[in-house]
Amino acid sequence: MQLELHDIQGTVLRNRPMPYFGSYVLFSIENAAAARTLIERLIPHVTSAADWDSPKENAWINIVFTYEGLRRLGIPEAFLDQFPVEFKMGMAARKKILGDIGRSDPAYWDLPHGNTGFHVGLLVMAGSEQLKEKKLKIGHNAIAELPGITLIARLDVGVPPNLREHFGYADGFSRPFIAGQGGEPLPGQGEPAKAGEFILGYENELGKIAAGPGPEIFWKNGTYISIRKIKQDVMAFRKFLTEQAGSKEGQERVAAKIMGRWRSGCPLALSPDKDDPTLVADPMRNNAFAYYQDDLDGKITPPGCHIRRVNPRDGLKDSIVDARLHRLLRRGAAYGPMLPEDATEDDGIERGIIISFINANPARQFEFVQSQWVNDGDFISEGSRTDPIVGRRDIKDDYAYPDKPVRKRIKGLPDFTATRGGEHTFLPGISALKWMVSQGWNP
Ligand code: HEM
Repeated sequence: MQLELHDIQGTVLRNRPMPYFGSYVLFSIENAAAARTLIERLIPHVTSAADWDSPKENAWINIVFTYEGLRRLGIPEAFLDQFPVEFKMGMAARKKILGDIGRSDPAYWDLPHGNTGFHVGLLVMAGSEQLKEKKLKIGHNAIAELPGITLIARLDVGVPPNLREHFGYADGFSRPFIAGQGGEPLPGQGEPAKAGEFILGYENELGKIAAGPGPEIFWKNGTYISIRKIKQDVMAFRKFLTEQAGSKEGQERVAAKIMGRWRSGCPLALSPDKDDPTLVADPMRNNAFAYYQDDLDGKITPPGCHIRRVNPRDGLKDSIVDARLHRLLRRGAAYGPMLPEDATEDDGIERGIIISFINANPARQFEFVQSQWVNDGDFISEGSRTDPIVGRRDIKDDYAYPDKPVRKRIKGLPDFTATRGGEHTFLPGISALKWMVSQGWNP
């Protein structure tokens, strides 16, 4: 099976450089002809999965659309109607399913999230700040003299040189291996995932071709990116750790028990009792684990910790849930400056993580994981207990994990995070982009 790498936008299959500098640049469309010109100007700069590894200037551009954006481009109603309901509704309208309530309610989201103002998005990534600025200029030039297009937001993101996210965890080890992506799976990636789980136009885990709306040219090699902007309350997280354990060592242990990895990135599964940063840099070891054989009852990696919830690997083999239908390709990056290690109080600056979840079926993949595994505990016989890092806290706020000599229970888990935005977006194949501009539609 061959994937059409030259036609698939690169972010789907290719890992971002580490560290990197990125921006999400969002536009609104008031005029379909102007939007076509914008896309036409951008197409030569869109990086495919084939050019990703030898990029011009160590920088990359990809392009996404919201449902409202496609409507404003004049895509015929007959095609628009066939999009999945979650994409048509937009993420804010899915708040009940996603658990975006209380302080995560779309009413508090940062604009332009939570309304229909965001139509086209550029995802810009680069190996340095200067190269990123150079690529951003391409976006600025593309909207020059296009009165129907407005730049509405730019959010700078990145992975710092220590590769840590704001809570101090090293990130970016585990991702599915997609059949046809090239190369060999690494230990821990398991059986290659069917490409149709992540890219339209290929067979998925149900044995069907993952299809989209309208003619094949519109959806082949495209996919959906479900974007989440999550605010992180770093001071609350640090305070929580110090309340749980007096010693630095004890705090690291609690941090590991709620994530399933030590903050260095070392998996509990491979080093349950002490951190082993030596294995983190080795891709043959840093993700080389599964749960069924050695840890089905979760004595080593707690069933309720973050990484085991969001990817139970083979740990649900004996249950009715088929975990292969709920895989996510995840690209996370931090926004906002790091809170200094020695800070004694919050500096009032907003910081958090933007995660792009790539999936061919957002309801069955991102939304399922968020609603059933992050925000519910039934699938692991944990009742209504939620994810200790990012789960909603209005139903249950405790977390239990096996420990020596006795099981530990944390009561009153604070709300470390709040959703600050999100959207389901469509990332077309490159031929689809060309086809869209060739149609001359008007809404
Ligand atoms: C503040 C929010 C979040 C933070 C700080 C965070 C952090 C992390 C970290 C440090 C890892 C381990 C790195 C790795 O295994 O590659 C991880 C893994 C992962 N996270 Fe999150 N995450 C957050 C939210 C979410 C959400 C909302 C979801 C899904 C709904 C999610 C899905 C995943 C998945 C699928 C993995 C890979 C697990 C594996 O394959 O073992 N994360 N996350």
